Amino acid sequence: MKGVVFIRDLHQHVGQTVTLAGWLYNSRVSSKVAFLVVRDGTGLCQCVVDKAGVSPELFETAARLTQESSLLVTGSIRADERAPGGYELQVSGLEVVHRTSDYPITPKPHGIDFLFKHRHLWLRSRRPTAIMRVRHTVIDAIRRFFNDRGFMLVDTPIFAPSAGEGAQTLFEVDYFGEPMYLAQTGQLYLESAALAYGKVYCFGPTFRAEKSKTRRHLTEFWMVEPEIAWARLEDLLEVAEDFIVSIVQRVLRDNRADLEFLGRDIAALERIQKPFYRLTYSQAAEILRGPQARELLEKDLAEKTARAAELKASIERKEKERVAPGVKKHVQERLAAEILDEREELADVEEQLTNIPKHMELAANFEWGKDLGGSDETIISRLHDRPVFVTHYPRGCKAFYMKRDHEDPRTVRNFDCLAPDGYGEIIGGSQREDDLDALLERMAEENMVTKPYEWYLDLRRYGSVPHGGFGLGIERTVAWICGLKHIRETIAFPRLMGRVYP
Ligand code: 4AD
Ligand code: MG
Repeated sequence: MKGVVFIRDLHQHVGQTVTLAGWLYNSRVSSKVAFLVVRDGTGLCQCVVDKAGVSPELFETAARLTQESSLLVTGSIRADERAPGGYELQVSGLEVVHRTSDYPITPKPHGIDFLFKHRHLWLRSRRPTAIMRVRHTVIDAIRRFFNDRGFMLVDTPIFAPSAGEGAQTLFEVDYFGEPMYLAQTGQLYLESAALAYGKVYCFGPTFRAEKSKTRRHLTEFWMVEPEIAWARLEDLLEVAEDFIVSIVQRVLRDNRADLEFLGRDIAALERIQKPFYRLTYSQAAEILRGPQARELLEKDLAEKTARAAELKASIERKEKERVAPGVKKHVQERLAAEILDEREELADVEEQLTNIPKHMELAANFEWGKDLGGSDETIISRLHDRPVFVTHYPRGCKAFYMKRDHEDPRTVRNFDCLAPDGYGEIIGGSQREDDLDALLERMAEENMVTKPYEWYLDLRRYGSVPHGGFGLGIERTVAWICGLKHIRETIAFPRLMGRVYP
């Protein structure tokens, strides 16, 4: 809007009179002064209305303003270190554009389920705003990384006639009476583009019918996939390493305040430097069966047991306090909100208490040949302070297109990149099988019908070269960088099994 300035630009307007267009985030009113905290999407600004300095009508309007009412507020800007954002506006004019009543998300804590049902409004709050800002930076850093290094963007189809990553997670749609699937990956198409243009990438939504309700799985997520002609596994690891470092550096540069707001351990992110750890799958399997993994989980079990007892005692105490005679209403409300939070944490801790022994068992009895499970990845990643590349998985547990390793033909030339702090896999990639006969043999082992893949096989018939690439999941990356428990908060409108509203 003409004549309106953004809160993020206030540093350019100290001493001037400006107008902000925004919404009331929060307010505090006394008999002489009203403090209106206004948000405009670029930041928060405290706007001060002095009763002595404005008309009685204006003060009355300010004092009665409700949360999330939209408004135009005019006044002079001064720097104030104590104010959120560092600047304050001394109000001389106020126009209410839309008066809101009963905004559902109040400053008191709400349960996570309630917040997700109100996601269309919750997006306005500070925590989602900080996360969405980090997501924006991550995506921008990704595009810049590839564009600056001569990769060409090639958009791959979302309607896919055949599976790219295993038939169990395909979403089927009706395509004019024919079955069709939503893309699980752009990779196969991208291989064609890599043999055409050398270095390419695609970036789009990806669909997987994940029936498991985990912290790491969405049914719709965004994936960026580079694919490189003439690249071998070792080359891919180097690209992936530079790629992750550059994303983290950009977020550290542009979103420090957001990370601080989210309570992220910033020093841990600053440690994300080359070289990353490199383990083969066989070495990872040794670690899982070894004493380090067992000690880690035993320690967890002891800590979680203590925490559960602590939470139970605290909830019990607060319940009693809440219903005690003579407790003020606002104290009751605060206690109720705290109890809600603690109950949520307790449910979480109790779930972990039932899971940890299972995870110990899985790790201790880990057999060569099995894919690493979520809990196995968590163990490996928690034992390292920088990302870990796990390479050379058994071919039986990996996709048909991965190149067989000649030195150890039981394995393929693939890798997963595990983020530290227990976040687990954020990248999956591999060198591709570029030999027609080897690929056909593998497809036969998997009982795959070759007809829908004839075009893909052509890439091995006409000018085949070593090539490969990887896919990075945006939501898992943002969850790790922000230090979130669950990836559902990293996308504006998450799609999970059992959650599609709004
Ligand atoms: O390991 P994935 O399945 O690899 C591929 O799709 C390859 N075609 C990529 C390639 O080589 N071009 O998936 C890659 C990444 C995972 O590491 C993870 O970050 C993310 O995609 N991902 C998911 N993220 C959220 N929800 C899910 N259900 C995900 N499945 C995979
Ligand atoms: Mg994977």
